[in-house]
Amino acid sequence: KINAIITGIGGYVPDYVLNNEELSRMVDTNDEWIMTRVGIKERRILTEEGLGTSYMARKAAKQLLRKTGVDPDTIDALIVTTSTADYKFPSTASIVLGKLGLKNAYAFDMWAACCGFLYTLDTAASMIESGRYKKIIVIGADKMSSVVDYKDRSTCALFGDGAAAVLVEGTTEPELGLRDSYFRTDGKGLPFLHLKAGGSVCPPSYFTVDHRLHYLYQEGRTVFRYAVTNMSDDCALIAERNGLNKDNIAFVVPHQANMRIIEAVAKRLDLSMDNVMVNIEHLGNTSAATIPLALWENENRLKKGDNLIFTAFGAGFVHGASYYKW
Ligand code: ACO
Repeated sequence: KINAIITGIGGYVPDYVLNNEELSRMVDTNDEWIMTRVGIKERRILTEEGLGTSYMARKAAKQLLRKTGVDPDTIDALIVTTSTADYKFPSTASIVLGKLGLKNAYAFDMWAACCGFLYTLDTAASMIESGRYKKIIVIGADKMSSVVDYKDRSTCALFGDGAAAVLVEGTTEPELGLRDSYFRTDGKGLPFLHLKAGGSVCPPSYFTVDHRLHYLYQEGRTVFRYAVTNMSDDCALIAERNGLNKDNIAFVVPHQANMRIIEAVAKRLDLSMDNVMVNIEHLGNTSAATIPLALWENENRLKKGDNLIFTAFGAGFVHGASYYKW
């Protein structure tokens, strides 16, 4: 049996740091509110004009190729997961593939909001386990600053930009890699978290621009409630059916939307925060990039055989948890 494992990680975050102090000069907010309610001190923003999500995805993938030393000609597929594609079409993955000069690969995007990395990693793992593909690059990347209204204090503090890439390959070593996933999509999420205009229902027009309909809309309190319940339940379920508990879980790697959601998940699993990977304080919510960026930043804390649980929740609503043995 072939198991799918992550054999390398690359990451990229833009240089520009937008901290709470600067935000409080843009909207009526303050560091104390943001830290106690959300747990974010600063976030990175891609400020250079003309650069989009593919730029960050390419930077992350380049670092991945350099670190692993893998021959780019041996890559079979490249999948980008994002909610902030460079264009409606072509796919962001096709742009990244072109810039990387991959000669023997095909590329496509997957959309699953903040669950994008989990769903895509699982898809890539199934492709590897099938034996038809040997090396797949999965990239979680989002330029959330491109859809955030910096006049809306209820959302502008929450998000940041970033990208991370992983190489997924096969091994015949037993028990390693992506072991199990529990995913669900609850199609009732649309009213609570969406971007109103720019799609086929409400194409862009002077009206949509005048009414600021091209920005992320969120009913924060409802989303918060759903996120806590679903991420906690999904982790508990994946732990139970794989015999995982506080004594044998090395790390939970949760989607980073709110520190209070992350703490609730840790509490449900009876884990200390030392066993939770957190990057929300300095990166904010980078959507599809939160989980791979957390792995990238904490790579040196991971040991072979460590039991990890990944969990996420996002627009749709989408949610789930995966069990990964490092
Ligand atoms: N600074 C100061 N005050 C603020 C700010 C701010 N930045 N934002 C909101 N407030 C005010 C509100 O106006 C409100 O004031 P009012 O009572 O006078 O009306 C008050 O604070 C409380 O607002 P709530 O929205 O109820 O605050 P809450 O404690 O729920 O926190 C938050 C809001 C942080 C958005 C929280 O609800 C949350 O984290 N939700 C989940 C986010 C999430 O998980 N998103 C999913 C992933 S995103 C994706 O998929 C793309």
